[in-house]
This record gives sequence, structure tokens and C-alpha cells, in this order.
Amino acid sequence: MPTVVIVGAQWGDEGKGKIVDLCTESADVVVRYAGGPNAGHTLVVGDDKLIVRLIPSGILRQQTRCVLAQGMVIDPAVLVSEMDELERRGLSPATRLVVSDRAHMILPFHVTIDTLRETTGKGGPKLGTTKRGVGPTYEDKAARRGLRMGELRDLGKAQRLIADAIVAWTPTLRALGAEPPDAGAIVRELEPLAARIVPLLADTSRLVDEVIRKGQNVMFEGAQGTLLDLDHGTYPFVTSSSASAAGACAGTGIGPTRIDAVLGIVKAYATRVGGGPFPTELTDATGEKLRADGAEFGAVTGRPRRTGWLDLPSIRYAARVNGLSELAVTKLDVLTGHTELQVCVAYDTPEGRTDEFPIDRLEHAKPVYKAFPGWREPLDGARSLADLPAAARTYLDFLESGAGVPLGIVSVGPRRSETIVLTTPFAPRPSPGAKTPRWDRPSS
Ligand code: GDP
Ligand code: IMO
Ligand code: MG
Repeated sequence: MPTVVIVGAQWGDEGKGKIVDLCTESADVVVRYAGGPNAGHTLVVGDDKLIVRLIPSGILRQQTRCVLAQGMVIDPAVLVSEMDELERRGLSPATRLVVSDRAHMILPFHVTIDTLRETTGKGGPKLGTTKRGVGPTYEDKAARRGLRMGELRDLGKAQRLIADAIVAWTPTLRALGAEPPDAGAIVRELEPLAARIVPLLADTSRLVDEVIRKGQNVMFEGAQGTLLDLDHGTYPFVTSSSASAAGACAGTGIGPTRIDAVLGIVKAYATRVGGGPFPTELTDATGEKLRADGAEFGAVTGRPRRTGWLDLPSIRYAARVNGLSELAVTKLDVLTGHTELQVCVAYDTPEGRTDEFPIDRLEHAKPVYKAFPGWREPLDGARSLADLPAAARTYLDFLESGAGVPLGIVSVGPRRSETIVLTTPFAPRPSPGAKTPRWDRPSS
């Protein structure tokens, strides 16, 4: 049962898209289990670049089926426009895409509320959301008045449910300076989208269970990152879903015993987009250099990402709450050209020094750094650890031992080829029913 969860170990944008695309060479199915179009996963093949927001990053592999599972929130207009974009590129997404009929639907007023909360500053702390309606849609889900994708099959019923939701949101809309929309108008916009999406709807929990039973390779593609997880992140500066590995089970409808491995994606430094604590943030020229060299601008919003040094206690925290079994370190090449690199190894808190990530009292915690020598050589041509300069090896070794999780992949550029693969999550595609090893580890 080779099933692997890929999860961001930081605040998102770790390079999950690249690693999923790389690993899906041998995947039969890729499942997105949480979040929605707040995600932006970048895929680079040759000189071609594609950013997917809802559709799993496995879509570029013609043999791979892609599932949008029930833990997601889906904007039908964004989904159809992503499908159109893939069609234009000569891929045939509709034949390989399956959408859970239980995933919740983002409606135009969710986007309005999300946007107005951000722009007016009314309605809680200024989170710096992606303004894609994700938070309000999960609010409707928890309030048990959400619209699920399956309702696209019966737009008459959908209109009644939408009208009920609008009644519930009317005081909020008015407080934010907006008028409640017309449910009928929303449904008229949904009609052509429903015609495209309804044929893709299915009970994806059953589908994924069936492919796992057949021994096929399944990858669960996380969105956002552990520190943005609703339960385990830097609350309230988080997203509204279970972004961590546990979300793969709840968001897909499979049991924890079905998961074989959890691959944590760690950027070689740290970034964050949006508000909230970021103890190792650099607001100086070094931070600027990281942003410029790493092209750290939001894939969805284009916002400049905040940049900072690697925070090892937070990676250990992510290793713990996700049960990471392997690490993929990305963007090591971006660290080229610094005389010295710093890594946060502990925190000074009012209670004393700690190796733990003090997630609930970060405002009172001061990072303790260890300095490492930098290197000048470009790394994008490295294909084995032996190709790396000694200083880069030392940095990686320290990260691996500090995280307490073995290193499986090192990424040294955005392209598939710009990768050092130490272990591959999947063995070559199995024949149906064949037993495959959990991790294909070449003997050293
Ligand atoms: P995701 O949301 O985790 O999939 O990450 P994003 O796609 O939002 O951001 C990661 C960015 O880094 C994208 O522009 C990738 O093309 C790029 N990228 C991924 N891995 C590497 C790497 O190893 N080196 C460099 N220089 N860029 C990378
Ligand atoms: P990927 O999958 C980075 C951040 C937003 C904001 C907070 C809440 O590309 O790594 P939301 O719109 O979800 O209500 O915003 O979460 N955020 C992300 N940051 N990468 C992402 O996704 C993100 N998705 C949401 O910036 O701080
Ligand atoms: Mg991203």
C-alpha cells in the first residue's frame, strides 16, 4: 500500500508543487485533501511554468488521476478556468479529474466577505488572507449551512440552500458595507459551470479506498503548511483547514492505518505571506536578498513574501505533529552567495531557554542562532550530495540531524531535473496486486 502524504513543514510555499510533480512519475492517483484556491503550487517543466490552485500537481503526468477530495473548498469558476488552461496546453484534465460531491463550494459572497474583512479591517484580526473566500466557506461548513459540490446536480435545491446562507450572512454583509446578493443570479452563473463539473463528481472516499486496496501508488498533496493549520498553526494567523498530515485522512475519508509515509517539505530558509508571528524574519538587506534570489512573491496574490532564517525548533514541531518519515529540502540553491548563514536552534523565553517551538508565546520568545559558513558556488547543477560544496553539506547535515528526520530529497532549482534524489517515495509502478516496498532506498 504505497500511500504518501506530502505536507508543508512551514508557512506554505515550501515547493510542494515541484516535489509532488516530481514524485508523481510513479503515482497512479494524486489527492488534494484540504484548502482551496488559496493554494498556489508552481510546476516548472522545461521553460514552461504552470501554477495550479485547485487541481492537484499530478495533472501534468498523463497516467495520473487527480482527485479533489471532500476536505477541500472549491470555487467552481476557478476550477473550470484551470481546466480550460490545461486544455489549452494539450492536457485532457476532464478525463482524469474526479471531484468529491461532498467538498464545499465557494460562492461569490464568500469572496466578497473575505475581501471586505481584509480591506475594511472589520471582523477580527487582519490576517492577510488570500481573499479567495476560503475562510467564510469553511465557516458555512462548520455552521452546517454550506453548499456541497453535489448540489450542482440539482440547482433548484441549490438555490434554496444559497438563499438560506445569504439570510445568515446578511448582517455581516451589511456591517461590511455590502448588500446581500440575489440567490437566483448566483445560480444562473453556476449553470454553465455545473454542466462541466457534474460529470466529474463522485464519492472520492470510496474511489481512493479502492485504489489503495489495489496496491496502487497514491499521493496526498498537502496545501498551505503545518504552521498555517487551523489546530496546529500560529492561531489565529492560520488558514481554516487541517493543512497538516492528519488532514489527509479527514479530508479524504480514509483511515490513518492506510498511510505509509509522510514526506515533509522544508524550504532551506523560511518565508511567510500574510500576517502573524515570524520570529526569524529578516527585514534587512539579507531578507531582501533571499526574496530576490528565491523569487519570493505569492503565486496566487503576487504579494512579496516575508523572508527569514531557517527555524529548526519549528521544523522539529512540524516533524512531531505530522509524524514526518522523510524530509525534502527545497531551494538550497537560493542560499548561494551569503558569507554566513544563521539557523535558529532554540528560543529564549521568560521561562528560560528551550529547544521547543514556543508556538503559543512567540511574541515573548527570542530566537537563539547558530552561524554557519556560506558558499559561493551555484548549486543548480548538483545531482548528488557529493556535488555540493562542503559548507552546503554541513548545513544540510545540521538540518537533518536537528529535525531528527532522514533526508530523502534535496531540491536545487525549480525544474524536475534540478533535484538530488536520495530516496524515492514510490517504487516503480507495481503490477496490479503486487506488493511494493514502502520506500525504495538504494543501497549506499
Ligand atoms: P508550494 O505552494 O509549496 O507548491 O510552493 P510555491 O509554488 O508557491 O512556491 C515555491 C516556488 O519556488 C515556486 O516558484 C517554485 O517554482 C520554486 N522552487 C521550488 N523548488 C525550488 C528550488 O529548489 N530552487 C528554486 N530556486 N526554486 C524552487
Ligand atoms: P500553498 O499551498 C502560503 C495564508 C495567507 C494568510 C492565511 C489565511 O501555496 O503553500 P486564507 O486565504 O487561507 O484564509 O489565508 O494563510 N495562506 C498561504 N500562505 N501558501 C499558501 O498555500 C497559503 N494559503 C493560505 O497568506 O496568511
Ligand atoms: Mg504556494
